[in-house]
Amino acid sequence: MDTTMGDGETLQVGVLISGRGSNMVSIAEACAAEDFPADVCVVISSNSKAAGLERAASMGIATAVVDSRDFGTKAEFELQVQEVLEAHAAELVCLAGFMRVLSPEFCETYEGRLLNIHPALLPSFPGLNVQQAAIDYGVKFSGCTVHFVTAEVDAGPIILQAVVPIEQDDTEDTLAARILEQEHVIYPESVRLFGERRLELEGRRVLISPPRV
Ligand code: GRF
Repeated sequence: MDTTMGDGETLQVGVLISGRGSNMVSIAEACAAEDFPADVCVVISSNSKAAGLERAASMGIATAVVDSRDFGTKAEFELQVQEVLEAHAAELVCLAGFMRVLSPEFCETYEGRLLNIHPALLPSFPGLNVQQAAIDYGVKFSGCTVHFVTAEVDAGPIILQAVVPIEQDDTEDTLAARILEQEHVIYPESVRLFGERRLELEGRRVLISPPRV
């Protein structure tokens, strides 16, 4: 897996969403800082009603809707996603609440430059509805994980994680809100590390090199 994309210029990031888009906004806001090594070049939504679309447009970011229901096959849907990403010269692709499982072929095309955020401490609690699953299991801590995407869902090399406590009176919503706050920290930070070319894979470990001076 080559994680050293980019030519030293500002990294172009495409963000794939399906809903609210708060992680997309956190990345876009980080990108707005002068010394941030990345820019969001396009936001693609699989859902035309996603609130994140308006939020992206209001930040002056190009948006596109690619709805899988408009395509006969998954391959055609993904080809359209790829075409939009290429039209905007996206180098890094961030899944941020994107509710479609991508094919092994798509994951391979973007290997080493496709990231996802998951609201649990992987490899615990992969899949959906994981905040409730963590409460029900009785774990005392949960959190979030930014990882490289591979063909196996929620199983790619881990870039950053943040831990949050689970309180006795937590509901799915209160825990999700506490985790989301940390998502908004570690996702932009992961994009920054990628943009600064500081991520390196050793087996399935992601090593982070110190900042270049
Ligand atoms: C987040 O909890 C993220 O971890 C999960 O989907 C949710 C998306 O939220 N993959 P938002 O659309 O970024 O607000």
